[in-house]
Amino acid sequence: MPESIVVVDYGSQFSHLITRRLRELRVLSILVPAGSSLDEILAHDPAGVILSGGPNSVDDVGAPGLAPGLLEQGLPVLGVCYGMQLMAKELGGAVGTGGVKEYGKVALSGLGGMLFEGVEGEFMAWMSHGDSVTRLPAGFTATATTESGALAAMEDASRRLYGLQFHPEVRHTPKGMTLLERFVDVTSVARDWTPAGILDSAVAQVREQVGAERVLLGISGGVDSTTLGLLLHRAIGEQLVAVFVDHGLLRLGEALEVEGALRALGVNLHVIDASARFVSALAGVTDPETKRKIIGREFIELFSREARNLQAEAGPIRFLAQGTLYPDVIESAGVPGAANIKSHHNVGGLPADLEFELVEPFRKLFKDEVREVAERLGLPPHLRDRHPFPGPGLAVRIIGEVTNERLDVLRRVDDLFISALREFDLYHDTWQAFAVLTPLKSVGVMGDGRTYANTVALRAVSSVDGMTADWTRLPHEFLATVANRIVNKVPEVNRVVYDITSKPPATIEWE
Ligand code: XMP
Repeated sequence: MPESIVVVDYGSQFSHLITRRLRELRVLSILVPAGSSLDEILAHDPAGVILSGGPNSVDDVGAPGLAPGLLEQGLPVLGVCYGMQLMAKELGGAVGTGGVKEYGKVALSGLGGMLFEGVEGEFMAWMSHGDSVTRLPAGFTATATTESGALAAMEDASRRLYGLQFHPEVRHTPKGMTLLERFVDVTSVARDWTPAGILDSAVAQVREQVGAERVLLGISGGVDSTTLGLLLHRAIGEQLVAVFVDHGLLRLGEALEVEGALRALGVNLHVIDASARFVSALAGVTDPETKRKIIGREFIELFSREARNLQAEAGPIRFLAQGTLYPDVIESAGVPGAANIKSHHNVGGLPADLEFELVEPFRKLFKDEVREVAERLGLPPHLRDRHPFPGPGLAVRIIGEVTNERLDVLRRVDDLFISALREFDLYHDTWQAFAVLTPLKSVGVMGDGRTYANTVALRAVSSVDGMTADWTRLPHEFLATVANRIVNKVPEVNRVVYDITSKPPATIEWE
């Protein structure tokens, strides 16, 4: 297992961010919940440990503490905010709750010590704390103070213990990355968390886990499952059995593209063209939840049937691969104190007779790391940099009944919109963009005649993770061009509207 820096999460909203920043420095960084034991921490082979911030005061009843023995391992440890206070308390310093409360940007002075080495000029730090260290533990020196004279940083160079009262991981601390990089240097951790390193380690892990057994994988057409297919192919070749259930609810040309890309790279792919079956199962259904349930049920049924057939033909398949990502792992670990609630949209479980052991090579990866791996594995750019796309596909973007005709209209409209975003170099200015076919028909005029045709809505949002979103301010000229193209090229549509609501209160998808 590669060497890492372990981040102990005391519940700050920025804990994930520390992990991200370390990975930007090409260091494998693992977030573990507060309350993890020393053994649990050491299991990740840490070259250093970072204690995050958190909402508690160190003296609160039930406030999370340090893993016993952690500071005696000789490992470099960096405490951030609450983490610094914990360290100070543990080592015989004092933490005051009544002193200076600081929030926001603060200029630091008296910079010294290892972590600030190489920092030049003014240092602005982002503070968010009520408590502070009021007496240094023995062996520590102050390495920065705030304008009001409060302690902002401390270190004991001989024991390689460091504390920062502010958040080096946020952008509001512009030189924070320098400090994190200094800490990384102090730990001498291997900086091999590069796309090549990530790929090699995932490949090695899969080979070790599955040996000579076969692995089943469901491909949805999304970046994660497609990349997973390529990775498993690289790791175990013909032992991978990939099943692509084409539910017929994908975008224009998408199914063929995904199939082409995987086949071109040698993946052993079974394609089930089930579009007719899905569309007929959805006939007459307008309620969005019912649509989702039908799609989930049909998918599981088809996938299970295929899995049974494949096993009947060539013997048992022991493993099932899943594209679980690191954020899902962190969230489901239920870090105490961290308010992070995410609704999962994933398709439900397989029947009890189909039992598999899971292979999850992306469990340690963030989405952008999957994209980097995808690049190394040769997935073409337009397939790996795609906007998120919901599992139930266009069914949630057709309001009302899903029919072949309506799918066909929506596909053409969506393709005009997305192609134009790419053409005008706006695709990456928006986090997700798509067209919605509304159930609304209205009167229009075309040449000498009146028309009575569909209304489509365009939606483009800016977001980080889809949890909240704002509508993207696409240029009016661009919207005008797209609307024109749509009504001219898609005769079934005579009206185009642009959705200008944020999430909340609206959702991203219309459904
Ligand atoms: P909402 O509409 O809830 O969407 O604001 C948030 C993000 O989740 C995507 N989404 C889904 N993804 N299966 C998925 O894999 C689903 O059933 C599903 N529903 C919504 C949506 O596209 C947006 O990115």
